[in-house]
Amino acid sequence: MSESSSDVPGPTTGYVAIARKWRPRTLEEMAGQTHVTRTLRNALTSGRIHHAFLFTGARGVGKTTAARAFARALNCDQGPTPDPCGVCVPCVEILQGNSPDVIEIDGASNNSVDDIRDLRDGVRYLPQRGRFKLYIIDEVHMLTRGAFNALLKTLEEPPPHVKFIFATTEVNKIPETILSRVQRFDFKRIPQKVVVTRLRLICESEGVELTEEALRMVARAGEGSMRDAQSLLDQVISFGGKNPTDAQVADILGLVDRSVLFELFAGILKGDGSQSLDAIAKVHENGYEMAQLTSELLELVRNAALAALSEGARKHLDLPEEEKAQLLQVVEGVPAEQLARVFQVLLEVHDQVARASRPRYVLEMAVARLVAVRPAQPVTALVDRLVDLERRLRGAGVQPRPGSAQGRGREPSDDPEGERRS
Ligand SMILES: Nc1ncnc2c1ncn2[C@@H]1O[C@H](COP(=O)(O)OP(=O)(O)O)[C@@H](O)[C@H]1O
Ligand SMILES: [Mg+2]
Ligand SMILES: [Zn+2]
Repeated sequence: MSESSSDVPGPTTGYVAIARKWRPRTLEEMAGQTHVTRTLRNALTSGRIHHAFLFTGARGVGKTTAARAFARALNCDQGPTPDPCGVCVPCVEILQGNSPDVIEIDGASNNSVDDIRDLRDGVRYLPQRGRFKLYIIDEVHMLTRGAFNALLKTLEEPPPHVKFIFATTEVNKIPETILSRVQRFDFKRIPQKVVVTRLRLICESEGVELTEEALRMVARAGEGSMRDAQSLLDQVISFGGKNPTDAQVADILGLVDRSVLFELFAGILKGDGSQSLDAIAKVHENGYEMAQLTSELLELVRNAALAALSEGARKHLDLPEEEKAQLLQVVEGVPAEQLARVFQVLLEVHDQVARASRPRYVLEMAVARLVAVRPAQPVTALVDRLVDLERRLRGAGVQPRPGSAQGRGREPSDDPEGERRS
């Protein structure tokens, strides 16, 4: 059942996918998920180890990895220990995926009552080599209702030599009766910065040269999944070689070149229509979907709005510091409400762009609208300008007429010009 789980290249396998080759062997080595790994390590140290665990979370965030590392930690000759030796028979066997005591079951294809009855029969036998017999059931939400019920009995009173680890991407499909009998760990999407760090390490050891920008593109495209990011890195290497340019990386990932995206955005904010239209043309010539461009632009505007909003809002940006700094530079002096409006307009055209027979025109007109209709200036800024004007007039010997901004105080609603668009 665990035949496909070997992470070690066999003598005949030349190429091993990065995601497999770089699977962490210990909890310590895992990137992110420290809330999980710390608790598991503490349990191993104290020896107070629950008999059933549920690992939930998106694809490729380390559920299987943690399950196997935990298995090694439990069954290592030196164990249970958070730091398994890696060289004893149980350690090596688990690493190679052929330990008789670690039984990996695909819940999607072994989901019947009979499958679980087989499991229950097996549970009675003692482990052959390690201390524990470990059942790892992946995609456990796929079990039938009957199968869950059959599992329940074993879960209530498992023999002391048995541990269960269930993994699922859809925890809402797990019955309450099961949930109440397991120790649950929620694996999080992995922050971009953490993914970048891991990718950088991989590239360095594999002799692949990617710029920080390129690493970020790969991480971003992985959307919080380490496995997806690593598979994309595989693609980048196989199409772009060991020294691809940023533009090549963007191309392979099907992403719009970041610098062009920033030009487009900056053009909108500055009211520079030709800069924005040039950027759209460039993207179009490179053969990208306008819908893809629009959604990347939307993401950028959202990030920019958060960056402009406040220090507190900025912490919701899953971006590396350099990119935050770059964003802050672009939005300097731009009021958050202007960004919100740009977002609104783009959001409205997003679906139209995706459906239109001439998507480029739709996007161009939206941009033209954003550039032509400059933002309403905040009233306070206008009042300040009036006050400034008055001061300069006075300096030139001209007296302000009664009823001017200063004479009447600074009530914004008094200023009919305040709302006018400049
Ligand atoms: N937290 C992590 N730290 C480092 N690598 C990870 C992490 N999570 C996933 N990976 C990488 O992604 C691959 C797949 O991870 P896996 O644990 O199988 O994900 P899943 O959550 O889908 O079970 C691993 O082989 C490893 O290379
Ligand atoms: Mg898995
Ligand atoms: Zn060991």
